[in-house]
Amino acid sequence: MSCFVIGNWKMNLLQVSAQDLVKGLVDRGAVSDDRVSVVVCPPYTLLACMHDLTAQGIMLGGQNCHHASKGAFTGEISAEMLSDLGCRYVILGHSERRRDYNESDADVGHKAKLAREAGLVPVICLGETLSERQDGATFDVIERQLRGLIDAAGIDVVASSVIAYEPVWAIGTGLAATSQQAQEVHARIREVLVGRGFTSHVPLLYGGSVTADNASELFACPDIDGALVGGASLKAEEFAKIVDHARRQPA
Ligand code: PGA
Repeated sequence: MSCFVIGNWKMNLLQVSAQDLVKGLVDRGAVSDDRVSVVVCPPYTLLACMHDLTAQGIMLGGQNCHHASKGAFTGEISAEMLSDLGCRYVILGHSERRRDYNESDADVGHKAKLAREAGLVPVICLGETLSERQDGATFDVIERQLRGLIDAAGIDVVASSVIAYEPVWAIGTGLAATSQQAQEVHARIREVLVGRGFTSHVPLLYGGSVTADNASELFACPDIDGALVGGASLKAEEFAKIVDHARRQPA
């Protein structure tokens, strides 16, 4: 099975710097092949000028979409609009959106449904905060988020999505989960999915301070199928090394 390395550029880069970054990735061979799917998720404003990425082996994703398919929603972007610009993926339920825009598990589930209808693969983020981990509630939080998501989106939609475990305390902090911490949550997610009747293999990515230095150990875990990368995805050399580590994992 191929694994994923997905770059979340967040609210960074302008046209020239984005094109430089992509050129840096292509020059270093950080492109999709039968071992690894390489995806970048630029801000909306850059999507149109990233059109020819797919031809170069890098797939395109959005960072969010609205929960309605169209209408009077000033400032919003629909899943279909992302698809129209060549996106194949969309990140949904990132903790920054859950925190800043009060997105609930049900909201994320509704968005995932629309994303699938528009032909996109949702990359759905889950994860506990530091205080939830310190309270020993990590598994409860993950299970609640998964339950809310499946109830709102349905098994078929979640079965054709990618799930990213992103502990909130690890995002942008330089403090990644250890491979053991990540693996035990991924194994739990897998158990919950199987318990809910999932028969297909839903790719499970880890996200939160992934770098070229820790990627290899994370990718070696049996239930980690790739990474969702923030800060390190803005540096061509670093991101290319992460892609390389993914490619070197035994099939
Ligand atoms: P980070 O971000 O790699 O900068 O920690 C990950 C994410 O937010 O998806």
